[in-house]
Amino acid sequence: MPFTANRQFKEQPRLLAKAKGMHYTTPDGKQVLDGTAGLWCVNAGHGRQEIVDAISRQAAELDYAPSFQLGHSDSFTAATAVARMMPAGMDRIFFTNSGSESVDTALKIALAYHRARGEGQRTRLIGRERGYHGVGFGGISVGGISTNRKTFSGALLPAVDHLPHTHDVSRNAHSRGQPVHGENFADDLERIIALHDASTIAAVIVEPLAGSTGVLVPPKGYLEKLRAITEKHGILLIFDEVITAFGRLGAATASEYFGITPDIMALAKGISNASVPAGAVAVRRNVHDSILAASENGIEFFHGYTYSAHPLATAAIMATLDIYERDQLFQRARNLSPAFEDAAHQLADARHVIDVRNLGLVAGIELAPRPDAPGARAAEVFRKCFDQGVMVRYTGDIIAVSPPLIIEEAQISEIFKKIGDVLKTVE
Ligand SMILES: Cc1ncc(COP(=O)(O)O)c(C=O)c1O
Repeated sequence: MPFTANRQFKEQPRLLAKAKGMHYTTPDGKQVLDGTAGLWCVNAGHGRQEIVDAISRQAAELDYAPSFQLGHSDSFTAATAVARMMPAGMDRIFFTNSGSESVDTALKIALAYHRARGEGQRTRLIGRERGYHGVGFGGISVGGISTNRKTFSGALLPAVDHLPHTHDVSRNAHSRGQPVHGENFADDLERIIALHDASTIAAVIVEPLAGSTGVLVPPKGYLEKLRAITEKHGILLIFDEVITAFGRLGAATASEYFGITPDIMALAKGISNASVPAGAVAVRRNVHDSILAASENGIEFFHGYTYSAHPLATAAIMATLDIYERDQLFQRARNLSPAFEDAAHQLADARHVIDVRNLGLVAGIELAPRPDAPGARAAEVFRKCFDQGVMVRYTGDIIAVSPPLIIEEAQISEIFKKIGDVLKTVE
């Protein structure tokens, strides 16, 4: 099983059998309130009939079409629908099947862009400590999680540097929204550029809000600074929006939320409401055009997947984006954010809690670790919450909450109250 303690799981499995709306049902019929949108991906809630219908219609009509040298019209219609949700100018779309594939595709597009413009020596990639960019070799190389890297350390991409992460509990604990301190973490980019020279650097990749390593909200001014420095040096800025796109922060993308447009964006998860595995990369028109223009004729970009723009995925994407738009779910997330923030911060004084942080419909609750067993305390909170009917996530000793955008205010209260109640029982 992926990212799971296999032996412990098999001794004590936790299985899910059904899902509808805001709830999972276990095989023995217990209802579990979904506080995490599955894995940050079921933004429109579970079992949406319009998506189910679209997938089943598509399976009957055209089950599969190769995307190499052939196509099907929905791949272009779905790309147009995705592009409409992107910041202005980011309207060229490449379909993948997952966040990991989107990240590796984005990194390759960055390299291809520089080479197409006669700057093929720009090969260095810059990620960030505590960044999570999936599990491809590109993603773990620019990623900053040691457990995901150490086993494969001899085989990581060679020309990679990392910015420092932006998490600073000593100065920013219990921030509501973007923390005040930490814009200066972006200055390290100038240091790395001075070391290698900008002419060797292809791209910087960051999650605008880092989710997997425990909800790290970007400090005020930080992303603006990254954008200014990359632009000044002709370095591409890639936003990994695998969890932030499609409404998580109360806007279509984090880029829109923060008012900062990258050059390339990695997408997945909420793009299809997780009903069919799907992902995409959105790029600025000039990046796309440069790559196409560099090739006289023939294939311009030697990359792609058997299941790029799979018909079931494009059907699911179109039905999902229709729901987001029709039900105004991004606006709904924005409207719910203040109540979500208040509910999260009621845990500030709860036992073991050293920090609560939040933005949009995502919150992180950081616990003091047990001296002898880091991670054990949050793991126990996760297990007890699940047993008592609320699903949360944990990384290390950080609890993450990121519910579907259809959540009701009473359910927001229920999630945080449950966490508080469980914390009282955890040593
Ligand atoms: C920011 C980010 N990038 C990439 C990924 C990888 O996505 P996948 O698991 O679909 O490959 C994730 C998954 O959580 C993610 O949060």
